[in-house]
Amino acid sequence: MKHLIAPSILAADFANLQRDIEMINESDAQWIHVDIMDGLFVPNISFGFPVVEAVNKHAKKPLDVHLMIVDPDRYLKAFADAGAAVITVHVEATTHLHRTIRAIKELGCKAGVALNPHTPVNQLEDIIEDIDLALIMSVNPGFGGQKFINNTYKKIVQLKAMATSKNPDLLIEIDGGVNLQNAPQLLAAGANVLVAGNFVFSSNNQLATIKELVNL
Ligand code: DX5
Ligand code: ZN
Repeated sequence: MKHLIAPSILAADFANLQRDIEMINESDAQWIHVDIMDGLFVPNISFGFPVVEAVNKHAKKPLDVHLMIVDPDRYLKAFADAGAAVITVHVEATTHLHRTIRAIKELGCKAGVALNPHTPVNQLEDIIEDIDLALIMSVNPGFGGQKFINNTYKKIVQLKAMATSKNPDLLIEIDGGVNLQNAPQLLAAGANVLVAGNFVFSSNNQLATIKELVNL
C-alpha cells in the first residue's frame, strides 16, 4: 500500500490551532496525529477532550489518537465520542491488552498498540492478529522535537516479518524524529504510516514539506 503521513498537532501553534488544522486539511497528508499525555505514563501533559473535540470540528481527515496515558480503558469511549478514528494504546500501560483492543473496535475505531523504544517487538506476538496498527516509538514518548533512535529500523524489519505471516494488512506507524532524511529508510524497512511533528510545523513551507513526505 501507499504510505500515509500523519502530521502531529503536538507541534502546532495551540493559539492558532484552527489555522493549523486547516493547513493539514488543505495538504496531502492523510491523517492527523493527536498526542494525549497524562503526566504519569509520560513526564508531560498535552491536552484533553475539549481540545480533541475542537480539532475534530475542523478536521477533514481521520484523527489518529495516540494515548500516552496509564489505564487507557477509562477513556476509550470519551476519545471515540470526541472524534477518534484510530485509538492507539501503549503495551506498557495496559494490563489486559486483548480486552482493550476489543473495546476499541466495539467503539467503531481502528485499534493500535504502541511500543516504547525499549520494548521488544515480540511483545506483539499474541495480539498482532487482532490489531489494525502497531506504532513503534522512535523517541521516548513525552515530547516533540527529539532525536530519532536508530534501533527503530531493526524493529520495523522484525515487525514487518511478523506481520507478513500473521497480519499482512497491519499498519506499521513510526512516531518520533521522522524527517526527509530517515523517512525513505523507514519506508524501505516496512513502515507504512509516518508521524511528523516538528519537521512539518517548523518548516517555512509546511504544505510543500508534507507533499515531499507523501510523495516518497
Ligand atoms: C512524542 C509524540 C510524537 C511527537 C512527534 O511523544 O508521541 O507524536 O508529536 O513529534 P516529532 O516529529 O517532533 O518528534
Ligand atoms: Zn504520537
